[in-house]
Amino acid sequence: MTEYTVEFVGTGETITMSDKQTILKACIEEGIAQEYSCRVGMCLACTAEIMEGEVTQPAARGFTEQERERYALTCMARPQSDLKLKRGVYPPSIENNTATQTPEAADD
Ligand code: FES
Repeated sequence: MTEYTVEFVGTGETITMSDKQTILKACIEEGIAQEYSCRVGMCLACTAEIMEGEVTQPAARGFTEQERERYALTCMARPQSDLKLKRGVYPPSIENNTATQTPEAADD
């Protein structure tokens, strides 16, 4: 087991966690307010942008191959290095999909 440091950019929050644990589980245990819902890789609510470092997340099927390198699905992702993550940032494919579902978009 290897331990890594995960820093949440702009929040002042940093945790130390095992590479055997998901980032979301470590957040919950440490009292970090990481957003989530399903915890099984389906809703994408737990997404964070990877500012530095690498994760393994073979079950993050909702991301394209390029998105998988830049975004972490924290309920599935395990650290492979020290990380800097930015919470609440979603890939363009998710942002664009959400934008078309707003009531304002439906009125256009
Ligand atoms: S909590 Fe739903 S995908 Fe992570």
